[in-house]
Amino acid sequence: MITEFDISMLHQASRLATMGHGTAEPNPMVGCIITDVQGNIVGEGFHEKCGEAHAEINALAIAGEKAHGGTAYVSLEPCNHTGKTPPCSIALLEAKITRVVIGASDPHDEASGGAEFLRTNGIEVEVAEDEICKEIIAPFAHKIKTGLPWITCKWAQTKDGCIETPTGDTPWISCKESQQLVHEERGCIDAIVVGVGTVVKDNPQLTVRGATKHRVPLRIVIDPNVRTPLTSAILNEKAPTLLVHADHADTSRMNGVNLFHLPSVDGVLNLKPLFKHLVSEFDVTNVIVEGGATLFKHIFQQQLANELWIFTSPKLSATTAFCNMNHIVQSLNVTLLDEQISGDDIVSRYAVNNTV
Ligand SMILES: NC(=O)c1ccc[n+]([C@@H]2O[C@H](COP(=O)([O-])OP(=O)(O)OC[C@H]3O[C@@H](n4cnc5c(N)ncnc54)[C@H](OP(=O)(O)O)[C@@H]3O)[C@@H](O)[C@H]2O)c1
Repeated sequence: MITEFDISMLHQASRLATMGHGTAEPNPMVGCIITDVQGNIVGEGFHEKCGEAHAEINALAIAGEKAHGGTAYVSLEPCNHTGKTPPCSIALLEAKITRVVIGASDPHDEASGGAEFLRTNGIEVEVAEDEICKEIIAPFAHKIKTGLPWITCKWAQTKDGCIETPTGDTPWISCKESQQLVHEERGCIDAIVVGVGTVVKDNPQLTVRGATKHRVPLRIVIDPNVRTPLTSAILNEKAPTLLVHADHADTSRMNGVNLFHLPSVDGVLNLKPLFKHLVSEFDVTNVIVEGGATLFKHIFQQQLANELWIFTSPKLSATTAFCNMNHIVQSLNVTLLDEQISGDDIVSRYAVNNTV
């Protein structure tokens, strides 16, 4: 039987798991808590870096002999195969753990089976299939199921839903704190995608600045007609860039730029093959689409968005001539996941339910 205490331990393990964001991927983020016979916490750990020790091993190393007769709370089913490291199922058995409470089953065919292995070896196993634990491995599970990365659409909007600023006005809708949050997240993900309209108007660098984690996301421009100016900051040497164009486009002036072509139907690129390519070629897990509105419309119409990350400022738009995101998101079926304050802004995260 799973108790309220078990669930609270699993949620604590989930919070630990998220500390691996940016370094654990492409592996799933996992957290583990070990309690002794009396229920006292004697070990905690998370999967810090892909290729290094899993959460269970880090937690068991702290618990030592205090783990004997204790319980392991693991946000994801312990692995049951030898990948870059030996199976965690065997490590738990050898540590004389007598009960294992699992947050979510492992969707990975090769690694799964830890629950069954432990049960077969006389250990009491509970699998909660808890929503919070599942949310943490959602990008990993989505990639296994669809061959696509987890796609988060992020934008800053005024209180009345506008994402564009009139030329000559300050380019920033969101506050400094929010901009810093975006840099922190960029330092944890694999790729950032923008439309060529944004490159031409804003000339963004799309690099990671002042962040704790140091992943270097691939910068991707959706530019069917190859109109990215050669002087664009996105083509600088600070990070790799991929320019995605239509089959028919003349790319001759883009000497030295990494190119990827897609067929164009009535001027529209079907972006799914691009995202599949990012997974198969680069093992990409997390992508942020940073706009603008035209690209968002295509992403939503092609049902590719998994999550929305919206920064709403208290400012009002200076004119109604600029694009209103409230209309664009109307086609989506979303569930609010989280809402918090960041400086002057409200930051909302939504799960998109009608995704492929
Ligand atoms: N507040 C924010 O968070 C935020 C973020 C980003 C941008 N913005 C603002 O948004 C504005 C730019 O938005 P925008 O809508 O004009 O431009 P955009 O979405 O950045 O780029 C649109 C262009 O990209 C190409 N494109 C994108 N997806 C495509 C697809 N699936 N198939 C074919 N072509 C595709 C098309 O190029 P072609 O025209 O060559 O066909 C299209 O016109 C700027 O004012 C910028 O400041 C705001």
